Amino acid sequence: MNKKNKKSNQKASAKNERMEKIISLAKRRGFIFPSSEIYGGLNSCYDYGPLGVELKNNIKKAWWREMVQLRKDVVGLDSAILMHPKIWEASGHLAGFHDFLVDCKECRKRFRADHLLQAKNIEPEFRQLDSEIKKNKIKCPECGGDLTDAREFNLMFKTFMGAVEDETAKIYLRPETAQGIYVNFLNVINSTSKKLPFGIAQIGKAFRNEITPGNFVFRMREFEQMEMQFFINPNKSDKWFKYWQGERWDWYLRMGLKKENLNLRPHAQDELAHYAKAAVDIEYNFPFADSELEGIHNRGDFDLTQHEKYSKYEQKTIEDGKDKVTPFIIETSGGVDRSFLAFLLDAYEEVDPRSGDDKSKHDKEIVLRLHQDLSPIKVTVLPLSKKPDLEKLATKIFDELKVYYMCAYDVTGGIGKRYRRQDEIGTPYCLTVDFESLKDNQVTIRDRDTMKQDRVPVSDLRGYFLNKYGY
Ligand code: GAP
Repeated sequence: MNKKNKKSNQKASAKNERMEKIISLAKRRGFIFPSSEIYGGLNSCYDYGPLGVELKNNIKKAWWREMVQLRKDVVGLDSAILMHPKIWEASGHLAGFHDFLVDCKECRKRFRADHLLQAKNIEPEFRQLDSEIKKNKIKCPECGGDLTDAREFNLMFKTFMGAVEDETAKIYLRPETAQGIYVNFLNVINSTSKKLPFGIAQIGKAFRNEITPGNFVFRMREFEQMEMQFFINPNKSDKWFKYWQGERWDWYLRMGLKKENLNLRPHAQDELAHYAKAAVDIEYNFPFADSELEGIHNRGDFDLTQHEKYSKYEQKTIEDGKDKVTPFIIETSGGVDRSFLAFLLDAYEEVDPRSGDDKSKHDKEIVLRLHQDLSPIKVTVLPLSKKPDLEKLATKIFDELKVYYMCAYDVTGGIGKRYRRQDEIGTPYCLTVDFESLKDNQVTIRDRDTMKQDRVPVSDLRGYFLNKYGY
């Protein structure tokens, strides 16, 4: 092996190792479990555990605050997952939401044609998948067998509504939340008197029968999206397209992602989705590749025009009190699960032992430096020992703080080990009740990142954390 290859192999294995560490931490500390694990798991489906659901809720809360609560021009929505099947005809999903698949003639395994080409560094053009596969003599990556021609495979999950399972009862699990917003465009205008420009935001589950899911929660078959559709005058689409790129980029930075791990990638013309006039991805430097975290799309008037055509309801609004226009739409479309993974990866750090009494027993400690708004637990109360007087005061403090913050209480094991457990899950503040506390009614608060310790009177705790968290 030459020097260059050796170096790149080392780099790849360090990246894999990083991903393995995150997956192991997620399982060990109750962030993410494989779904249906006691039955052998269900491919690429995951359950969020006690800490995972807190982190996930905090990501959604931070997004909602930013995109809805702090704005005059965006309102929220929660539309149904099951929708009229005509919606997917109008949106183009029935005709165009396909992957191109090839089967191995020997082992019968199925692969995405574009992924096989990309693995050989060939940038595939959809119209030429078959000829490229033949020209480059691409074989089954599993057994080396010959491959069939590429066939289209629709990614939408189908099911039946009602008691009869026939064609007329066929419906789909939504593959994106966006369509629920478009079909409520008029309802929102009529119920809120919103005028252009304005947006509708929604967070919810989406389902895609992905052929090659994987990379933990990066590509799943059931996942969650945070989408916002901004309705604008068509003449102003360039301005708003740029504006939303900036807003979304800044949000990820403010929530703690490192700038050097983010990348803004415009789509080439031949890469654009069927609905998009222009698109930009915010990519994160995941250990497996720079990959999409969120897409910002100029969808033009494609969606409203299509729904007008299929529903026969005019999808226009009055602009400037006189002209009727079909608005253009700028969409920001991010994944909750992908953000979750990026926030975990970015926050994960291994540091030299620093916490308390049993430093000699381990080489490294894990600190999850999550943004404090995202941390699952805001304050953990630690009585130094199980002595009833200490526990009594600690419980009183826990009961006072739990009203404002998601708190934890931990009395098992040495104090060093307990600090380590909290660092590992990203708790910004640990509050220790010691024997001095019984005399001076003060407690010690340790900051996860600076390791600074403050001695704070019990009566000032609310003010102390109000100052730290802003609420
Ligand atoms: N409405 C536009 C739309 O759905 P998309 O690029 O297909 O666009 C938007 O999806 C976001 O949804 C992606 O940036 C990603 O964060 C998330 N996403 C898409 N497919 C996913 C999957 N299979 N697993 C997890 N997240 C996914």
